[in-house]
Amino acid sequence: MPKRVLFVCLGNICRSPTAHGVFQQRVDGAGLSEAVLVDSAGTAGWHCGRAPDPRSQAFAAAHGYDLSALRARQVAAEDFRQFDYILAMDRANLSDLQALRPVDSRAELALFLDYADGACDEVPDPYYGGDDGFVTVLRLVEAAADGLLTAIRRTL
Ligand code: 4NP
Repeated sequence: MPKRVLFVCLGNICRSPTAHGVFQQRVDGAGLSEAVLVDSAGTAGWHCGRAPDPRSQAFAAAHGYDLSALRARQVAAEDFRQFDYILAMDRANLSDLQALRPVDSRAELALFLDYADGACDEVPDPYYGGDDGFVTVLRLVEAAADGLLTAIRRTL
């Protein structure tokens, strides 16, 4: 059975699509595309059906990640039965997910940055800020993606 990973932020147009694109590239590069399935979602449904924020797409593209095919969706209780890992970008996302979590959830629910070595445990929301925020998102996401892939490989 493949391992299933869901990245979750608030709007599913900035942080979680960046995590989705970066981690998908790590998975593909490791030859694990069939063994590890990746998706992303938002706790809010405001941007459902939309492509990632143009700023996220531009910064990701400059680092070799193509987010253009991704479309936003809202996280649902069913996700807790489908996914092995549900990884939140910040504590507010985590607490919203804990409130939604059904009793028969089989997902490991955690902060994504638990898989990185750095001092931060949240990926800050870049939506209302400047370009620096998008650079920070990429840097944090890349570090945690490597740690997550190492951890999942141990379970395969
Ligand atoms: P994300 O960023 O949670 O990283 O996708 C946001 C996107 C949109 C909004 C807030 C955060 N918004 O308020 O519409």
